[in-house]
Amino acid sequence: MSTAGRPRRSCLAVPGSSVKMLGKAQGLPADQVFLDLEDAVAPLAKPAARKNVVAALNEGDWAGKIRAVRVNDLTTPWTYRDVVDVVEGAGANLDCLMLPKVQSASHVEWLDLTLTQIERALGLPVGGIGIEAQIENAAGLVNVDAIAAASPRVETIIFGPADFMASINMRSMVVGALIPGYPGDPYHYILMRLLMAARAYDKQAIDGPFLQIRDVDGFRESARRSAVLGFDGKWVLHPGQIDAANEIYAPSQQDYDHAELILDAYEYYTSAEGGQRGAVMLGDEMIDEASRKLALVVAAKGRAAGL
Ligand code: GLV
Ligand code: MG
Repeated sequence: MSTAGRPRRSCLAVPGSSVKMLGKAQGLPADQVFLDLEDAVAPLAKPAARKNVVAALNEGDWAGKIRAVRVNDLTTPWTYRDVVDVVEGAGANLDCLMLPKVQSASHVEWLDLTLTQIERALGLPVGGIGIEAQIENAAGLVNVDAIAAASPRVETIIFGPADFMASINMRSMVVGALIPGYPGDPYHYILMRLLMAARAYDKQAIDGPFLQIRDVDGFRESARRSAVLGFDGKWVLHPGQIDAANEIYAPSQQDYDHAELILDAYEYYTSAEGGQRGAVMLGDEMIDEASRKLALVVAAKGRAAGL
């Protein structure tokens, strides 16, 4: 079943080379896990990591979490073997493959066609495995609209700040944090650009990692900056970041209650019984069809988060 619309407030990175962490991650309250074969795994450890990941998907109890695997990017010699081994070995227990450093629609098209072949060979539903596209350099950003549109399998557009900062020579070594002395948010343009592509093609927009894992306040600040824009979730690298992400990417109780109130009021006033009015007052606030749409988004996220 597609995981396209499911909550992804917290997306937990789990190194494929660590059997211990592959075990521990199963019990953590993240919405999604991604088992990593890319940068968290040393080149010589990749073959063993593929085996660990297949075993963890087949034998683990992931308790309803979205299960993704991050393969290596298409400039490496590892991608095809990652895809073949993981999907042949555990395709029935896998929701998505995450493709890092996507630079053009052709990268997504390659993965889409390869997945289709393997699904056909295995008798799995064709199109059942989704794609998560990580945007991590200037080429990826300028092509992001085509990347989002490249396949119906694409479920998320993900910001990769560490690689992105390196690729554009951004003058900061603290990934995900503001830059002292720069009077603005250095990530704002990139986040907005990704968000527009995601929304235009009905994909989720996911913020990347905050690497200072002991600085939970710093994590919260970074998460709030993308959450207020409309991002759906963020990577978490450490169990200590999960609760913060789950809270920040869900609406507050107050906003959720208010959204439900708007929906109820609007439904009543636009009905025959309520006078079929288009714009009405709710206390001191004027509400109309646009307010209803805004409220629908907040209410859907709140209901999904169990508020
Ligand atoms: C994640 O992959 C990043 O580069 O930030
Ligand atoms: Mg990266």
